[in-house]
Formats: sequence, structure tokens, C-alpha cells
Amino acid sequence: MREILEEKLKEIFKEKDFKLEKAPEERGDYASGIAFRVAKEEKRDPKEVAKELKEKIGENTFFQTEVAGGFLNFSLTEEALWKEFFKLLKEKEDYGKKKGGKKAVIDYSSPNVAKSFGVGHLRSTIIGQSLYNIYDFLGWDVAGINHLGDWGTQYGKLIYQIKKEEKDPEKLSIKELEELYVRFHKDEEKYPELKEEGRKWFSKLEKGDPEARRIWEICKNKSLEEFDKIYKELEIEIDHTIGESFYEDKLSEVIKETKRKGVAKESKGALIIEFDDMPPAMILKSDGGTTYFTRDLAAIWHRIKEFSPDLIIYEIGADQSLHMKQLFAATEMLGWKKSTELIHVAHGMFRLKEGKFSTRKGKTVHLKEVLELAKEKAEEIIENSMTAGDLSSEEKKEIARIVGIGAVKYNDLKRYYKRDVLFDWEQVMQLKGDSGPYLQYACLRCKSVLEKGGKYEVKEEGLEKEERRVVKKIVRFKEVTEMAATSFSPNIIAEYAYDLAREYNVFYDNLPILGNEKRMAITEGVFIVLKRCLYLLTISLPSKM
Ligand code: ARG
Repeated sequence: MREILEEKLKEIFKEKDFKLEKAPEERGDYASGIAFRVAKEEKRDPKEVAKELKEKIGENTFFQTEVAGGFLNFSLTEEALWKEFFKLLKEKEDYGKKKGGKKAVIDYSSPNVAKSFGVGHLRSTIIGQSLYNIYDFLGWDVAGINHLGDWGTQYGKLIYQIKKEEKDPEKLSIKELEELYVRFHKDEEKYPELKEEGRKWFSKLEKGDPEARRIWEICKNKSLEEFDKIYKELEIEIDHTIGESFYEDKLSEVIKETKRKGVAKESKGALIIEFDDMPPAMILKSDGGTTYFTRDLAAIWHRIKEFSPDLIIYEIGADQSLHMKQLFAATEMLGWKKSTELIHVAHGMFRLKEGKFSTRKGKTVHLKEVLELAKEKAEEIIENSMTAGDLSSEEKKEIARIVGIGAVKYNDLKRYYKRDVLFDWEQVMQLKGDSGPYLQYACLRCKSVLEKGGKYEVKEEGLEKEERRVVKKIVRFKEVTEMAATSFSPNIIAEYAYDLAREYNVFYDNLPILGNEKRMAITEGVFIVLKRCLYLLTISLPSKM
């Protein structure tokens, strides 16, 4: 609706980039401060200008204009609301969907092999997948890439430790692999020469030594199996898994290009790229080894060549901000960037509310434990629900999975990505507040009303206050998804969905719905939009709750 209104006003005001704000609720739907700007330019009173503009806009069936102070406030007419609402009822699931957009690559999830999948990677996975769903829905051609951490000196260290402790890699669990790695680092503190041993094994790995390769391969496959289980549980599938090792045979070409273009230079036996306003990035270490940065450089080169994207999104924690800035700057210096926009969606850190779910000091929180606990808590909710009696234990388990996982996902997505996540189980699982289960429940409530009410036929008629409020919220859906995409912020969709669900619940509590065609239609509208929002937030809907 905002877009349509903006278009209309653009013509009247003869302003190419005219944009509307959301108005304070009691004032109308949208607002503009354009009169203030014009008044300043022409040294006049903004109120006078606003009045003049209102005259210019004149009367129409789409919206009403009010002047308040120097602001212009616009309220959509019922006629306009109905027009858009009918569109939704006709297009149903396709409402808001677009076609023929640009191309995007999204780098997300990207855990490290031989380590467990931490909650940090969970953030990246969930936010990344949500961005994927949003861009895809808006018609973009999206390629998701899992930039698996499967290469680097750490794997030399791991292999060294496996050999030293004479372990059979086939028999090691991910946890044991992680512990081996930790032991190496402990020993290394005492015996710094061990670093050299790790480096040697990585060098062997790079040169294709069969034993090093065999061990690396086993560890990698084990991790992938483990990660796949997690992705399955999260119902997330990433288009391409292209790990760091993939770029192994492309690194030398990329390194050559950095030299040829005079972007990299030698320094104390290493090869580095210098920047005006940042510390240098290392491309080759003095021992000739490549780095995380080198592989990211190769990856961006490969992505631009392979996908010709208009946009590349990196969904990675804020702790890698410097690395990303260096990477983007280097890409620019190398002349690769051209028209590709590069974005680092730098998410905040994950914290546990103290005492609620803390692990022993220093231990990273394991995602698996979080998900298990979420499912257990969801099972409690279901056990206590009214439908519990009609459900088989199989059904309960499946519902608990969907509710538990949905709760964890929503908890992450409801916050602006830059903010840290404070993980508090009570908040995550609450049925009454701003939570995943609350939204799932609201959506199922609409569904059950629709099932009870059966077929209906709706025509345009006057809207009562509660009805108008819900319809107004419903027709904001398109602008919300657009905003979420352009600001890389799924939380905008989460906030909107929560708001809509709450508004519907007021409507549901105050007005009889069954037998009233108009209210049935509104219920269907809410159902369609809420379900779509949940999908954009990567959250599924259970069959019952
Ligand atoms: N594996 C890295 C880590 O866990 C994240 C990789 C993110 N993607 C990238 N292109 N650097 O820290």
C-alpha cells in the first residue's frame, strides 16, 4: 500500500525519490515531513506549505490527507483497504510474491569441521536462511553457500595429535576430535615447538600426503554427517556446500593476480595487502602457507565469476568485522567488485542468561543440547495443552520438535541482528508473549476457525473498528517484507507477525466470527499472512497444538 501511495504522491509533488514514513497510529497510516523541507527552501511557514500541498493533492477515493503541525498525514480509505484485501484473498499464498529479481549469493552457517556446531553458527544459519527465504520470495535468484571451515593449519594440528595419541580416526566422535584439538593447544603452551609439528602436517596435507589426506577426509565426513543431522532437525537445506578446501587449486592463480595488479606486496618474507585505514591482511605467511583470508579472497573471486551476483551477503558474527572489511576493500582494489554489492550482516553474540542454562566455564554451548532442551520444554507445553488427549505419542513428539525448534529460531530472529541474543528459556518458550509458540498458536487458531466456518462469500461493506485495525495490519505485509530485505533484518517481519497475531487475538476475543462472512475473510487473511511470515522466518506450523 505504501508503494502505491508513494507513486501517487510522487506525481503530484513532482519528486523522484519521494518516501513516506509510518504515521503515529492515532494520526493515520503514513506521514510525510516534506512541507518542512519546502518551507526551509522557500523560507516560509511549514504549516502554510502543508496546507497548500493538501489542496494540491485534493480529494480522492484512495486516501484522506490531514495537516498536523507541518506534517501531512495520510489515511487509507476503506475502499483502498478493500481493494488490496481482495487482492490478497484472490492471490492467497502468492500474495506479495515477486518474480524476475536480481541475483544474490548468501554465505551462511559455515561451521568448522572437527568442531561442534556452536550456537554462533546457529545464528548464522537461522538469519542466513531467513534472508534467503525473504529474497527468494521477492523474486531474487538466490544461491546459498555453506563456506565450510575445512582447511587450514588447525587440521595439521589435529592430525598431529591423532598420530601422537595413536587414535583410530574412524572411531573418534566429534566431541573427541574437539578434545584432541584442545589438548594440542594446551601442550603447545608448554612446548611452543609443537606449532611446527602442526604446520608440518598441514603442509603434508596440502601436498597430498595420503595418510594426512585419509585422516582429514574421515574427520571431515564425520563432521558433515553430524552437521547434516542438525540441518535436518532445523529443516534447513543450503544449496551449495563449498568449503575452504575447494579453493585449494585456485589459490595460486588468485595470489598471482594480487601480485600482478600490484595489490599485494612482500613484507618480511610474507605476502600482504595493505590498507590506508586498517591493519594489513596476510595472503601468504612467511612459511608459504595460505590463510583464512586467502581462501576468502579466492571464494569471492569464484562467486563473482560463477554467479555474477548483484549482491553477496555474508552472514557472519560481528567478531569478524575487520576481516570482512579487509576482504571487501581488497576485492575493490583488485577491480573484481564491479557492480556487485557486498554486505556483511554482522550478527551479535549469543549469551546465556546466567544460572538458567550455563555450561562449565569456558566450554562453548553446544547447539545439540540447546535443541534437545527446546524439544523437551515444548513437550511439556503440549502435554499440558487441551489437545494432548487426542494425540498419539508419535504426534506429540513431532509437534514438540516443530514447536521447540520454532521457539529457538524465533528467539533469534525477533531481535535486530546486530544485537546480542540473551538466551532465557522462560522467554523462548512462553506461550503468551513474543515467542515462536505464540505465533504458531495464533496461526493454528485462524486455521481452526476457517475449518469450523466452512465456505464463505465476501463483499465490500463497512468495517468496524477492530476489523479495520486487523485489515490495515494485513495489507502492510508487502512493505514489511520489502523493508526486511533492504535492511537485511528479518526481525522486522517477526515484529510485524507478532503485532498482527496480537491484533487478531483482540478481534477474536471481542467479535463473534463464525457465521459472519466478513470476519471469516479477515481470519483467512490473517492466516495466509501469518503463515507466510512464519515461513520467511524459517518456522514451520505444527498440525495441532
Ligand atoms: N568458518 C568460519 C567460522 O566459523 C565462518 C566462515 C564464514 N564465511 C566466510 N566466507 N568467511 O568462523
